[in-house]
Amino acid sequence: MSPLLLPAPVSISSWYDTLMQLLTALLALLGLTAATPVPRQSGLLGVLDWALKKKLTFNGDGEFKVVSFSDMHFGERYGDGTWASWGPEQDTNTTIVHSIVLDQEQPDYVVFNGDLVTGENVFAFNATGYLDQMYGPTVQRGIPFSSTHGNHDNANNITHLEEIEYEVAHYGELSYTRADVGPRPYGCGNYWVPVFASEEDWAPAVVMWFFDSRAFTSGSGDGPGPVPDAANYYWIDEKTVPQYIEGQSALMKAIWGSLPPSLVFVHIPFEKSDDLWSLPTMGDHDDDPDPASQGFLNNTYTGLDVPSFQAILNLSDGKNKVLAVTSGHDHGDSWCARSFNSSGLALCFDGHSGYGGYVTPHSEVRNGRVFNLKLSDLTASDGPKVETWNSYENRTTNDYVVLGPDFMKEYL
Ligand SMILES: *[C@@H]1O[C@H](CO)[C@@H](O)[C@H](O)[C@H]1NC(C)=O
Ligand SMILES: *[C@@H]1O[C@H](CO)[C@@H](O)[C@H](O)[C@H]1NC(C)=O
Ligand SMILES: *[C@@H]1O[C@H](CO)[C@@H](O)[C@H](O)[C@H]1NC(C)=O
Ligand SMILES: *[C@@H]1O[C@H](CO)[C@@H](O)[C@H](O)[C@H]1NC(C)=O
Ligand SMILES: *[C@@H]1O[C@H](CO)[C@@H](O)[C@H](O)[C@H]1NC(C)=O
Ligand SMILES: *[C@@H]1O[C@H](CO)[C@@H](O)[C@H](O)[C@H]1NC(C)=O
Ligand SMILES: *[C@@H]1O[C@H](CO)[C@@H](O)[C@H](O)[C@H]1NC(C)=O
Repeated sequence: MSPLLLPAPVSISSWYDTLMQLLTALLALLGLTAATPVPRQSGLLGVLDWALKKKLTFNGDGEFKVVSFSDMHFGERYGDGTWASWGPEQDTNTTIVHSIVLDQEQPDYVVFNGDLVTGENVFAFNATGYLDQMYGPTVQRGIPFSSTHGNHDNANNITHLEEIEYEVAHYGELSYTRADVGPRPYGCGNYWVPVFASEEDWAPAVVMWFFDSRAFTSGSGDGPGPVPDAANYYWIDEKTVPQYIEGQSALMKAIWGSLPPSLVFVHIPFEKSDDLWSLPTMGDHDDDPDPASQGFLNNTYTGLDVPSFQAILNLSDGKNKVLAVTSGHDHGDSWCARSFNSSGLALCFDGHSGYGGYVTPHSEVRNGRVFNLKLSDLTASDGPKVETWNSYENRTTNDYVVLGPDFMKEYL
């Protein structure tokens, strides 16, 4: 498509804000303003989006495969701000990794799980050009996708909101990314996406939740700059997101009768992952997540990631469980684990799919993490389960496990 034909960037929640303004004006007319503030989550958010987008459905074999890529780190250059050929070469390599994994796995959905760019290295005038490169292999194959955003996606010359608005404006046909709630511009990439068993279904078979763990990487290659106060938080916003999860899931229960099983994606891992790190699980264990995990401020654990963790635990409805919470951030981690320490919730890492960013001994061969959802597994009588494995640029797969009632049950 010619760039001239692309829609102009719009504020992605403008329709909602307009509706709320009208409602608020109406309430004001009735003299009800002070007594009845209109809650932002007064409907199932995103419903208008789905009316305009292709409904995501399982295929004829009852399968829906998701590949999660983290830590692409596009746009790197030298610390002194000068350019060299290795930055663009890394980026080309990353698109090759994605192409190989996508051809190997043929997924139905791609998640870009944060640190899409190395934001402290990019210029404001062309930062989003790296996103075009990053989405390239997925877009060329016509695969629907969405993104979470990482600490390196908030920097002096780029923010989460700017990346989201660019993605929605330019890739709106394939992108399911939204900004439902959360502080703008640094922490607003919180949303959910339903996947239905078939076109006719009213209630989804699975819901994917995406959260924004904020944080900010200062510096432009010319040395560190100040971190804006509003960005100096390294966890999902505890003031808006737990209420959002609670409100949206209450509506889901009311409308659909129960909460579907779910997958959760967030760039920075929850602090609880540190308690699981040393367990003997498959995948790379090169990075101890603590204190690079959520909830840390000035090297001190605040506990402020706990409200969102609790709200995610509440997404389990009877037998229907949260199948996994998947993070990137720690390039040298690509394991899944659970225990009593995580209240039985499976916490996964999806490794390192980019040639940008730091490399650990076991993460040199780049990978994405695959979730192979099957309707028969989701409706199993003992509770839902999902197969997952890592898929590598050297055209191999590894670390196959089934997340479900039997996964690591001896540790509960
Ligand atoms: C790109 O990939 C090639 C082949 O794997 C590798 O030899 C080269 O070092 C990579 N380039 C960069 C800048 O990482
Ligand atoms: C952004 O501009 C810089 C400096 O002109 C250039 O080196 C770089 O390749 C550009 N990046 C993109 C994605 O266009
Ligand atoms: C990028 O950010 C740096 C501060 O880190 C600033 O000095 C520079 O002007 C910014 N560049 C652009 C093109 O916005
Ligand atoms: C629970 O967490 C503690 C503290 O991090 C850790 O030492 C222990 O190995 C963990 N046990 C399990 C089963 O997760
Ligand atoms: C964190 O440290 C910075 C600089 O040392 C300081 O300005 C800030 O107040 C500290 N924040 C908190 C919440 O302690
Ligand atoms: C989780 O659910 C319980 C029981 O319904 C409720 O009391 C609690 O407030 C919920 N917590 C969050 C963080 O939503
Ligand atoms: C491919 O990479 C994986 C992950 O590093 C490694 O375990 C495996 O041995 C490699 N296989 C081949 C054939 O190179």
